Amino acid sequence: MKILIIGSGGREHALAWKMAQSPLVREVLVAPGNAGTATERKTRNIAIGIQDLDGLTALARAERPDLTVIGPEAPLVAGLADRLQAAGLSCLGPTRDGARLEGSKAFTKAFLARHGIPTAAAATVTTEAQAQAYIDAHPGPLVVKADGLAAGKGVVVAPDSGQAKAAARAMLRGAFGDAGSTLVIEECLVGVEASYIILTDGQSYVAFPTSEDHKRLEDGDRGPNTGGMGAFSPASAITPALEDIIRQTIIEPTLAGLRADGCRYTGFLYAGLMITADGPKVLEFNCRFGDPETQPVMMRLACDLVPLIEAAVCGRLAGAAVRIDPRPALCVVLASAGYPGEPADGKPITGLGEDTPECKIFHAGTRATPEGPVTSGGRVLGVAALGEDLQAARAAAYGRARAVRFQGAQFRRDIGNRLPPGDCGGA
Ligand code: AMP
Ligand code: GLY
Repeated sequence: MKILIIGSGGREHALAWKMAQSPLVREVLVAPGNAGTATERKTRNIAIGIQDLDGLTALARAERPDLTVIGPEAPLVAGLADRLQAAGLSCLGPTRDGARLEGSKAFTKAFLARHGIPTAAAATVTTEAQAQAYIDAHPGPLVVKADGLAAGKGVVVAPDSGQAKAAARAMLRGAFGDAGSTLVIEECLVGVEASYIILTDGQSYVAFPTSEDHKRLEDGDRGPNTGGMGAFSPASAITPALEDIIRQTIIEPTLAGLRADGCRYTGFLYAGLMITADGPKVLEFNCRFGDPETQPVMMRLACDLVPLIEAAVCGRLAGAAVRIDPRPALCVVLASAGYPGEPADGKPITGLGEDTPECKIFHAGTRATPEGPVTSGGRVLGVAALGEDLQAARAAAYGRARAVRFQGAQFRRDIGNRLPPGDCGGA
């Protein structure tokens, strides 16, 4: 088989690495890929960016891949899956209507309410006056969210009304462009977060191992929200009993709700959850695999991913199962100076060392040059390791992360070693 993967992040490197291991796969194309996918076996980069829907569609028409996997949200929300399917190509990822679950937080809040799925109490507003009125009526910590896509950065956890109003004002005045012309303002939930990611053909689904991201930039869950600074699997807060509850109260009602609304959703579906004292609640949905969650989850996936994806695309997922390495895995993200703002670019990267089956460096914002890889984005690398327990995985990932060098590198020291649940006060 020939596979086409769209994207250039750590998620896409991990998917390419995993899919290239399949005996079914002859070649993996990655558009545009990064310096890591450029050297992965069976894998070839093609320099077409994720915003270039015409270019990607033309590429897929020319290459006729047996399967295309769309990694990031932007092309899904923009309708790339619709275009590839219209061209008669086999493609994993929801069409534009399904991708609204990630593309519009206001749509998702209405969807959750309509289908009785647990989530934080919220209001959707479009003016500063509406925002102020809601904030005044709800003293205490609130979370202010830009409706549209903002690369994981359009969410402000505001410990008090003043900060909530300031965030709402900035967003409504264009801090995130059109993405912030509608806002969701919601109750701040307290608990432990977990990422619950499934693959569905619209009817049946398989769940991947659970995982836990670290969204804030700095140790102790401080600093601004980022796309994710590190993750481990399994999630700390999900027991087998809780997983049953998540399936029954969140995943299955969501899939049934999509069907009831006339949407055939195929692809990965990521439920970002807060495990609260009242049970699991939905913080967000993503219409794709998580980044950096993909990296530790792929390290633990002990079966071939390709037949699962093929089954999802063809509507044959019923009865499928995933096999999971019982060992935990952990991934530490190394980010550029300036991230999550404007990242420094073009810094030479050294000290990458050698991968082993238990420890692998996934590239994200990197670019190959004749002199070696250089930085080319906010999140640069993810160092992922398996271990007999979480602390062993942590030691292995950090041991290797500390040997990597590029100017201005920043990473959290506490991935997999969190303090007890936060209180919304650390924004
Ligand atoms: P989202 O993109 O909606 O998942 O928000 C990004 C991050 O903001 C989440 O992973 C949480 O860390 C935090 N967050 C979002 N909504 C809430 C909430 N209602 N209560 C507490 N934290 C939240
Ligand atoms: N790591 C969070 C996300 O992929 O959205």
